[in-house]
Amino acid sequence: MANDSGTAWHWSEEGINFHTRKWVRPEDLNANGTLFGGSLLKWIDEEAAIYAILQLGNYRVVTKLISEINFEASALQGDLIEMGLTATHFGRTSLTMRAVVRNMITRKRILTIERLVFVSLGEDGHPTPHGFSSITYDRDRMPTEHPGTGTVRLPSA
Ligand SMILES: CC(C)(COP(=O)(O)OP(=O)(O)OC[C@H]1O[C@@H](n2cnc3c(N)ncnc32)[C@H](O)[C@@H]1OP(=O)(O)O)[C@@H](O)C(=O)NCCC(=O)NCCS
Repeated sequence: MANDSGTAWHWSEEGINFHTRKWVRPEDLNANGTLFGGSLLKWIDEEAAIYAILQLGNYRVVTKLISEINFEASALQGDLIEMGLTATHFGRTSLTMRAVVRNMITRKRILTIERLVFVSLGEDGHPTPHGFSSITYDRDRMPTEHPGTGTVRLPSA
């Protein structure tokens, strides 16, 4: 089935898998009664942080840059939205991602962000090389150290 932009409506789009869904609640609305951009950006930033942690194997990742955001459509209270990210560039200390958010009810694309850049930090708070150059689809890079609680005990396989 096609959406308004003529593209197919699939679970995956342009290499992006839509893992996270949100239900638009009253507290997520702007004065116009539609989805507040600030709520959406908070969700995307969190999603990107989790993605970067899983790709770079480090809890200490911070948002460095969010490029131009193109809000293409909106959502109403009660709508379901879904967010997807994919890594587009592995730098030395950074990871660049692309984000797409879609409205599952109207089947319209809500926004795209071409570049979200996160930087991997060392214990000293300075950028540190992450050593990765391609996407993992497994949980093989899960950090084994948590800055808040210390070493994470992993269950034996
Ligand atoms: C992240 C931070 C440590 C990077 O410091 P920095 O002095 O820019 O570090 P560097 O110059 O070594 O750059 C680190 C990486 O970021 C990239 N980078 C820096 N500025 C960039 C920009 N404007 N756009 C895209 N990438 C950028 C660099 O290319 C480098 O990537 P690479 O190693 O893969 O090539 C520092 O800017 C910072 O602490 N910012 C605040 C982060 C934060 O708190 N974010 C939460 C929101 S407030």
